[in-house]
Amino acid sequence: MANGVGGGERPRELRTDRLLLRRWRSDDRAPFAALNADPRVTEFLAGPLSRASSDALAERIEAHFAQYGFGPWAVEVPGEIPFAGFVGLGVPGFTAPFTPCVEVLWRLAPACWGRGYATEGARAALDFGFTHAGLAEIVSFTVPANVRSRAVMERLGMTRDPADDFDHPELPAGHSLRRHVLYRARFPVARDV
Ligand SMILES: CC(C)(COP(=O)(O)OP(=O)(O)OC[C@H]1O[C@@H](n2cnc3c(N)ncnc32)[C@H](O)[C@@H]1OP(=O)(O)O)[C@@H](O)C(=O)NCCC(=O)NCCS
Repeated sequence: MANGVGGGERPRELRTDRLLLRRWRSDDRAPFAALNADPRVTEFLAGPLSRASSDALAERIEAHFAQYGFGPWAVEVPGEIPFAGFVGLGVPGFTAPFTPCVEVLWRLAPACWGRGYATEGARAALDFGFTHAGLAEIVSFTVPANVRSRAVMERLGMTRDPADDFDHPELPAGHSLRRHVLYRARFPVARDV
């Protein structure tokens, strides 16, 4: 990774005031499939996923943890919601001017929006990336219209340079979701307290 690799012992799961970010369990697959089939969730993604595609994504997430020691953690609200979605870190598989890199990413069930969970979990993921994985920079990206996701990036203190805007190389020319904005967080990142 261009911006550093981790040293030291890495926690297997992350805890915040309200959340547990943990490794995935087999019983996460059904609520994950429901989330991935919801058009509100996939409005700015490549479209709703079938159960098979959702399970395949969960497998790729497991493989990511095995390869890197981190990934998009399953989000649990202890005592209330066993599986709310994911928040965590990922290594994009495509090539762009800012890769290789690590991104911070999130996807929650709509019932869990508007509670601050994505921002709270992402703060823990950034801390993990900077403190335990030794990263100097973590990025995040989305389509310009995904204002909820951009608001998370901005609450985290991530900054955008329009010169970093890019066309996603995995989407064809003319695709409505091809253009992306890029946000960056550098260690130490400025945060709201
Ligand atoms: C992107 C996504 C995770 C953002 O969810 P979100 O709920 O808007 O973001 P947060 O969890 O940080 O919550 C922030 C909201 O909770 C509110 N909130 C309520 N209680 C809160 C608390 N105790 N602490 C902090 N914020 C709280 C905030 O005021 C804010 O409200 P607002 O949206 O009216 O401004 C969600 O929309 C999603 O999963 N989308 C689909 C997948 C997707 O697009 N992923 C990103 C791809 S790049």
